[in-house]
Amino acid sequence: MKIPLYHNESGHFFEGNVPEHIAIIMDGNGRWAQKRGLPRAAGHKEGISAVVKIVKAAVKCGVKVLTLYTFSTENWKRPKAEVDTILKLPQEFLHAYLPELMANHVRIHTIGDIERLPFHTRKAVQFAVERTRHNTGLQLNFALNYGSRHEILHAVKEIAADIKQGKLTLDQVDEQKFSQYLYTADFPDPDLLIRTGGEKRLSNYLLWQLAYTEFWFTDSLWPDFSEEEFYRALEDYGQRNRRYGGLSG
Ligand code: FPP
Repeated sequence: MKIPLYHNESGHFFEGNVPEHIAIIMDGNGRWAQKRGLPRAAGHKEGISAVVKIVKAAVKCGVKVLTLYTFSTENWKRPKAEVDTILKLPQEFLHAYLPELMANHVRIHTIGDIERLPFHTRKAVQFAVERTRHNTGLQLNFALNYGSRHEILHAVKEIAADIKQGKLTLDQVDEQKFSQYLYTADFPDPDLLIRTGGEKRLSNYLLWQLAYTEFWFTDSLWPDFSEEEFYRALEDYGQRNRRYGGLSG
């Protein structure tokens, strides 16, 4: 979607294309807390406020899909207390903000193996998914117990099983068909990936789906990531020339 001119609260204007799908690696909660002499859990809780800000900004800009890396398959390696804190965040967020999400027509989704999550987390997200299923606004997608290699392997096994059962032939397996076996089957590939927290890596996030995605990195720690900076990322994206391996037009 092309928007001619957009201005945010600070009166900042930009011109360009709004990404349809934005994926975010929300990194830096722990460091944010440590810098203030607080327990890491305080950083994760503050991370919820940043999620609220960015969801609102995404709604305002007409972004269609926002996929947030909330808990990775590797995050189980953290101390149990921290894992417990992170896995309570979705329900805290949904408990506080579901009415507002409904008012803004936001639809909740999840990607990842949610069966292995604690019952309270699963129940909260499944309730929100069900409650918001008819909403037609922003699709807010939480990656929970998500790992891209696991997702790809899972897809390969499902495809093999379907071929074995005669539901699919080898010739039918192309990129489009493969994509339908991923958790993200219902979404277009991300146009823009934002990673906060200063690291420049993908951390097993959407490896297949990010093949032609534009990347935007910032040193800001996730709880400090502001609406203003989000708009800067969009503005930068709007200036890029996406060629998908072809020649510039
Ligand atoms: C990475 O920071 C962050 C996480 C593993 C948790 C992400 C969760 C949130 C931002 C809040 C989610 C909110 C909702 C609404 C569900 P880190 O702990 O690795 O930070 P560090 O690199 O500074 O240690």
